[in-house]
Amino acid sequence: MRTLSVLGSVNIDLVLATKRIPDVGETVGGGKFQRLFGGKGANQAVAAAALGARVRFFGCVGDDEYGPFARENLCERGIDVRGLKTVEGATGVALILLDAQGRNSIALAPGANAHFRPAGTHDIAVMQLETHYERPRAKTLILNPAPAPARKFSLRGVDFVIPNQIEAEQLTGCKDPRKAVQALERMGAGRAIVTLGARGVWCGGEVHERGARPAFRVRAVDTVGAGDCFVGAFAAALAKGHPDPVLFAQAAAALQVTRRGAQNVPSLAEVEGFLRKHA
Ligand code: RIB
Repeated sequence: MRTLSVLGSVNIDLVLATKRIPDVGETVGGGKFQRLFGGKGANQAVAAAALGARVRFFGCVGDDEYGPFARENLCERGIDVRGLKTVEGATGVALILLDAQGRNSIALAPGANAHFRPAGTHDIAVMQLETHYERPRAKTLILNPAPAPARKFSLRGVDFVIPNQIEAEQLTGCKDPRKAVQALERMGAGRAIVTLGARGVWCGGEVHERGARPAFRVRAVDTVGAGDCFVGAFAAALAKGHPDPVLFAQAAAALQVTRRGAQNVPSLAEVEGFLRKHA
């Protein structure tokens, strides 16, 4: 099995589940509050580890009260955290509003994540854009370009790019996922996979891999971290030589949205059982 290095963000998610997300200047009462572990990098590492991958994590937490908890959480999930540094200041925080349909809006304070710089040599590296991006030395690079960059961005040296539809549109200017996949591959990515939520994914790559794949039909209660679960599962499947990493990742993400919390990820046995039943 190949080793995965996830290089990226660690956040504490302050989640408020509410009937609906308030407009600017409006107050909506009756919500339920939870403090959870999050951060796109940490979420992807946790998903990959739960699905049986050997995972190393590289990132930064703060020397505040949250930092040790975030570190311990990754350790408890079986992740090698020797690459996780503690820096002066606050750990990253995400304020998340979740509505009754499981949709979310997120505001971020990067805190310690802003100090992280990729270093070292990796086999399969997984990155997102909540931390500073530069191509790490890696045999294979998977990039989840989230949040989408505001400036012009090169995908040279990226083997797999996995944005959602909004990020794909922001990167390429193409709303149509088929065109976005082609544009992402023209921008330098080896293979582009655009996730479309309940509408499935649009895949690029070799001719036989190209095209739309429908989503598994499930009842979503929380979509926070669904993309992270997809990316972590895809990376785990790739590391283990799975014949269809996209299908495996779709099954993992389908299970994840039926639970609350970005790191409430399915186990390998659950994903395999789901695939036996539904694929
Ligand atoms: O992708 C979901 C994640 O985005 C949350 O866990 C939050 O921390 C933000 O980084």
